[in-house]
Amino acid sequence: MPIKTIIEPFRIKTVESIRSTTRTERERLLEAAGYNLFLVPAEFILIDLLTDSGTNAMSTEQWAAMMRGDESYAGSPSFTRFREAVQDIMGFRHVIPTHQGRAAERILFTTMCKKGDVVPNNTHFDTTRANCEFAGAEALDLPIPEALEPARIHPFKGNMDTARLAELIERVERDKVPLVMLTVTNNSGGGQPVSMENIRAVKAICMRYGIPLYIDACRFAENAYFIKLREPGYADKTPREIAQEMFRHADGCTMSAKKDGLANIGGFLCTNDDALAQREKDLLILTEGFPTYGGLAGRDLEAIAVGLHEALEVDYLNYRIVSTAYLGSHIAREGVPIVQPPGGHAIYIDARAFLPHIPPLEFPGVALACELYAEGGIRSVEIGTLMFGRRDENGAEQPAPMDLLRLAIPRRVYTQSHVDYVVEVILEVWRRREQIRGLELTYQTKFLRHFSARFRRK
Ligand code: F0G
Repeated sequence: MPIKTIIEPFRIKTVESIRSTTRTERERLLEAAGYNLFLVPAEFILIDLLTDSGTNAMSTEQWAAMMRGDESYAGSPSFTRFREAVQDIMGFRHVIPTHQGRAAERILFTTMCKKGDVVPNNTHFDTTRANCEFAGAEALDLPIPEALEPARIHPFKGNMDTARLAELIERVERDKVPLVMLTVTNNSGGGQPVSMENIRAVKAICMRYGIPLYIDACRFAENAYFIKLREPGYADKTPREIAQEMFRHADGCTMSAKKDGLANIGGFLCTNDDALAQREKDLLILTEGFPTYGGLAGRDLEAIAVGLHEALEVDYLNYRIVSTAYLGSHIAREGVPIVQPPGGHAIYIDARAFLPHIPPLEFPGVALACELYAEGGIRSVEIGTLMFGRRDENGAEQPAPMDLLRLAIPRRVYTQSHVDYVVEVILEVWRRREQIRGLELTYQTKFLRHFSARFRRK
């Protein structure tokens, strides 16, 4: 019989201690932080599932490559190695390093958009939306309808609604749509993948109107692996071949290397357009740095060059996708409502269904995040009414369409026993869910309020 157990495909050479706290300490910390986990110091977190961004564990090969980092201001060989690694997978003519993904977004939208434009995306991530709107354009989400039903199973729930895309371009003037974007995987939509068929269909529409297609590539390797697992015709292709094919359909990309670059910082912007690249580099020099380092140290470029390749290894991707799904399936089979199917980098709990007795305006996602911390020192993040709630024209608070709680899994950081622990804590909170109370906002800022908001328990 072939062995079925899937193991972490690495052994551990350096360890970082994590610290247990008592429930009394955690209750005190929560109160001091105004029930906002962004305000709890990280040393008091046992398992940190706040984000998969920049929290990756680097490999011995990456640390070794960092020693080779050449810190020359211009023309560093570290940049040459970085560019070759990016081009090998993504194939674009111009590779522009940036300090992280949102810097690439700012440069892209500043150079490509004008006031009154519309940028369609399957779902804009919040920094993508903010940078697009900052450039005066409308950030329009066009997910397939299935994406808005948490319990609905669909193999490629990250797909764009191509009928609505074509209808939009017909309706507004062509020159009001400077680019179309596809986010792979779709983070705000539950870490769900986009199929190759959908990428091809979106590209065909773009070509018909002469509009460039950009990929928000943060989790490109996880997306490629989902295509290998789920899309007919791709089972025998390597994740690298699939990723190369994904990018062949695009005219450029933005990337946060803090995700599938397996690095702790960094990003880049790519394009095949020579004139645009020149304008982007001019802007880069203004705020990020010379085009051969773009706000990064030479050693960061080296770590990313190695990380991009490691992120495409089959054993790694299999462990990654299986361990995320393990968390999802072990809580879902006990009745915990999650966004189905499990995503690549995170599990999203439907907090509104978990805590139906807490109205959206009492922040069920934040209340649940606080309970997971109080119960077991786990940090997660609300993606719901705190993050996306809006005030109507009379100043009254409006709930977000969904109240989700994201448990994002850092890459190569936690082992299966950590995940088993997280499952146990969630199920304990699930058993006493009826006793959980909602929260009342006591302080908020005008923009990005989730980072600094404070609450009291109802
Ligand atoms: N695009 C997507 C899809 C993202 O998930 C992120 C970051 C960015 C762009 C921006 O990249 O952080 O390097 O500037 N997502 C993180 C998260 C912050 O927690 O999901 P960045």
